[in-house]
Amino acid sequence: MASTQLILLTGATGYIGGRLLKELEARSRALRCLARQPQFLRQRVAARTEVVQGDVLEPAGLKQALEGVHTAYYLVHSMHGGGGFQERDQEAARNFGQAAAAAGVRRIIYLGG
Ligand SMILES: NC(=O)c1ccc[n+]([C@@H]2O[C@H](COP(=O)([O-])OP(=O)(O)OC[C@H]3O[C@@H](n4cnc5c(N)ncnc54)[C@H](OP(=O)(O)O)[C@@H]3O)[C@@H](O)[C@H]2O)c1
Repeated sequence: MASTQLILLTGATGYIGGRLLKELEARSRALRCLARQPQFLRQRVAARTEVVQGDVLEPAGLKQALEGVHTAYYLVHSMHGGGGFQERDQEAARNFGQAAAAAGVRRIIYLGG
């Protein structure tokens, strides 16, 4: 069933996010994807799916990505960044949670490292 409630999907270039992307598009959800390198994702999404640039370790850019979002899927981990994984993962999740709260996001589905 189609819904006008905007969904923000993070991790859409990843294993789980990539599969969820196709499921949400098949259900005609209003969808925006956040990607560090959006140029690699744009060619893989449906025409109506929005793709915006963003990095959960850079909070300044998250405000715009979360604007008008009802539900956000957080499917990100920092395992490929070398040492300090735990601290980086916590910082990223905190950044996202704070930006989502400020933007009035109603629900976050979190699957972290
Ligand atoms: N796969 C599993 O079996 C499994 C099991 C249990 C839990 N999980 C958890 O589920 C989540 C997704 O797993 P996955 O297997 O789909 O991971 P994945 O394939 O490695 O994808 C990770 C995603 O995170 C994005 N990402 C990484 N750092 C980012 C940052 N700083 N800002 C924005 N995006 C960032 C990556 O985007 P880029 O394209 O920019 O790199 C990529 O889309 C993770 O938290 C993982 O720990 C996975």
